[in-house]
Amino acid sequence: MKFIIDFANLDQIKEMYEYYPLEGVTTNPSILAKEGKNPYEVLKAIREFIGTEAELHVQVVSLNAEGMIEEAHRIQKELGANTYVKIPVSREGLKAIKALAVEGANITATAIYTQMQAYLAGKAGAHYAAPYVNRIDNLGADGVKVAKDIHDIFKKNGLKTEVLAASFKNSQQVLELARYGVGAATVAPDVIEGLVKLDSVTAAVAAFTKDFEGLCGEGKTMVDC
Ligand code: E4P
Repeated sequence: MKFIIDFANLDQIKEMYEYYPLEGVTTNPSILAKEGKNPYEVLKAIREFIGTEAELHVQVVSLNAEGMIEEAHRIQKELGANTYVKIPVSREGLKAIKALAVEGANITATAIYTQMQAYLAGKAGAHYAAPYVNRIDNLGADGVKVAKDIHDIFKKNGLKTEVLAASFKNSQQVLELARYGVGAATVAPDVIEGLVKLDSVTAAVAAFTKDFEGLCGEGKTMVDC
C-alpha cells in the first residue's frame, strides 16, 4: 500500500517527510483553501519539494465535463509529470474521466461513496479510485468494507485501477486496508501521527533509557558511555 499525505501546508509536509515513509501528496479544494494563497503557488512549492518522481493529486472544481477537462489541462501544464487530476465521480465527472483517459492523463476518481461509482470510474479509465472511508462511516455504512469491495471489484474484473483510500479519522481504518493490500492510502498528518503514538512504546523506550543511565550515567548514550 502506497502511503500518501493528504495536506497542503509545505512546512508540515516537509516535517512529515522527515519522519515518515511518504510517497506523495494529495490535496482537495478545502485543503488548499486553508493555505489562503493562490493554489498554483502552493502546489508548485509542493511539487518542487517532492520532486517529479512523486505523485501529486490535484482536484478540479468545475461542475461540467468541459470545465473539468479544461482545468485538468492547466493542472497538468503547471505541475508536470506524475500529477494526478482528481475528478469527482458524478455523471459529468465520468464524461471527463473518459475523455481525459483517451488523452493519457493520470486520473484519480474522487468523492467515491459507493462501489458502483468506483467500478464505473475504473471502466472509464481512472488510475485510482478514492473512497472516502470516514465520510462513509459517518453515513452509517462501513467505509473500510466499501474500500475492500472496490479493491476486489477491480481485481476480479481485470481493471488496472487501484484503490486510493481517503478520508481517514483513525489508525484502525488505515490498518485494516493495509492488511487487505489496497493500492494506496492518503492520510492527514494528525492521523499519521496517531499511527505511532502508543503509550506502551513510550513507556518501553523510557524504561530502556532509565536502565542504560543506571549503567552509564545520566544523559549518556551508546555514543559517550
Ligand atoms: C481525498 O481524496 C479527500 O479529498 C480527503 O481525503 C477527504 O478527507 P476528509 O473527509 O477528512 O475531508
